[in-house]
Amino acid sequence: MSATAANQYPNYSPGLEGVPAGISRISEIDSDRSSLQYRGYDVHDLAERGSYEETAFLLIHEHLPTQAELDAFKARLGAERQVPEAVYTALRAIPSTAHPMEAIRTAYSVLASFDPDDDKPSTDHDANIRKAERIIAKAGTMVANGHRIQKGLDPLEPRPELSTAANFLYLMNGAEPDAQTVKTFDASLTLYAEHGFNASTFACRVCVSTLSDLYSGVISGISTLKGPLHGGANEEAMKMILEIGSPENAQAWIDDALATKKKIMGFGHREYKKGDSRSFYMTKVAKELSIQTGNMTFVKIAEILEKTMLERKGLYTNVDFPAAYAYYLLGIPIDLYTPIFVVARVAGYSAHAIEQLDNNRLIRPKAIFNGDANLTYVPIAERG
Ligand SMILES: CC(C)(COP(=O)(O)OP(=O)(O)OC[C@H]1O[C@@H](n2cnc3c(N)ncnc32)[C@H](O)[C@@H]1OP(=O)(O)O)[C@@H](O)C(=O)NCCC(=O)NCCS
Repeated sequence: MSATAANQYPNYSPGLEGVPAGISRISEIDSDRSSLQYRGYDVHDLAERGSYEETAFLLIHEHLPTQAELDAFKARLGAERQVPEAVYTALRAIPSTAHPMEAIRTAYSVLASFDPDDDKPSTDHDANIRKAERIIAKAGTMVANGHRIQKGLDPLEPRPELSTAANFLYLMNGAEPDAQTVKTFDASLTLYAEHGFNASTFACRVCVSTLSDLYSGVISGISTLKGPLHGGANEEAMKMILEIGSPENAQAWIDDALATKKKIMGFGHREYKKGDSRSFYMTKVAKELSIQTGNMTFVKIAEILEKTMLERKGLYTNVDFPAAYAYYLLGIPIDLYTPIFVVARVAGYSAHAIEQLDNNRLIRPKAIFNGDANLTYVPIAERG
C-alpha cells in the first residue's frame, strides 16, 4: 500500500486481523485462556462427554438437547442420510485424480437443487433449519461414498441407526468400526464443528448476506476451507510428518525448515497466540491412540517439532497437527482429512448462515484504492 493510502486509513488491518466483522452468539474464542465455547459450553466437555450429534443440535437449535430431542434429531439425521442418484452420477463424472474437496464441493451443488425446501425464501428460518439438518445428515455419505467412487467401488447404503462418526467410517471402509475408533473420530468432529469468524465461515456469511441460500453459503465455506492455510493444513501437516519420517530426522528437518523460512503446517493460529484449545484435547486423543496402536513415531516427531517451534518461534500447534496423525493412525486416507473437516464444519456453517439470514445486513466492506487513476484513454492502434 502506498504511504498516502496508509495514512488515510490508520486503522487498516491486513487480513482483517483483530477487526470485529459482525456479532454472533454461536461460539466464543478466548485467546488469553486458550478456550473455545460453543453457545456457552466448553468444547472439551462436548468432545469428552457429549457427541457430535449433541454438538450439531446445540449449534443449530441453540440449546443442548434433552434425551428425547437428541433421539428425534438422530432419527431425522439417519433418515436423511441417503442422497439422490444424481449426486453419485456427478461424482462419477469427476476425474479420479481430483482432490475429494472438489468432489464434496460439487456434491453439495448438485444436492442443493433436490432439497424439498429449495423454493423457500432464503430468510425462511424454519426451512433453513430443515435444510441445515439435511446438509449435516448427507455430508458423511457424500464424502465417504465419493471416496468409494474415486476408488472404483460402488457407493454403500448409509446406515440410519449409526452415529455420524460410525456411519462415515462404515461407508469409508465397508466395515463397522469398533467403539474406541468411533469415540476418537467423534471427538474430532466435535472439535472441528465450529470456530467463529474463521475464513470459511466468514465466506459463508458473506455469501448468504446477499440473501443467497444456505447451500450456496455452505459451498462458499467449503471452497474457502480447501486452502492449506485453513482446512487444508491437516493434510499438509501429515505429508510433512511422513516426509520427516523418523524422530531421528526431526531436529535436522525442522532446523532446516526454519532456516529456509518454510511454513510449518499445523502450527500457528490467527486467534490463539498461547495455544489452540482444540489442539490440547486432540493431542491427548492422538497420544492415547499412539499408545493403543503401539506406534509412538508420530508422537516423538511431534514432541521435537512442538519444542522447537515454541522455543524458536513462540508458536503452538493448532488442531490440524494432532488431528493429522490421529487420522493416520485410524487408517484414514490423507486426502480425506479436509473433507472430514467439512463433514463436521457444515454444522457451524449452517448455524452461522441461519444467524446471518435471521438478522441480515449485506456484508460489503470497502477497498483502499491503491492503483492508477485518471489516465488518458489511448486508442488501441496508437498504443506502443
Ligand atoms: C494459521 C496462520 C495462517 C495464521 O496466520 P497469521 O495470523 O496471518 O500469522 P502470520 O502468517 O502473519 O504469521 C506471523 C509470523 O509467524 C510466522 N508463522 C506463523 N505461522 C507459522 C508457521 N506455521 N510456520 C512458521 N512460521 C509461522 C510467520 O512467518 C510470521 O513471521 P514473521 O513475522 O517473521 O514474518 C499461520 O500461522 C499459518 O500459516 N500456519 C500454518 C498453516 C496452518 O496450520 N493453518 C491451519 C490454521 S487452523
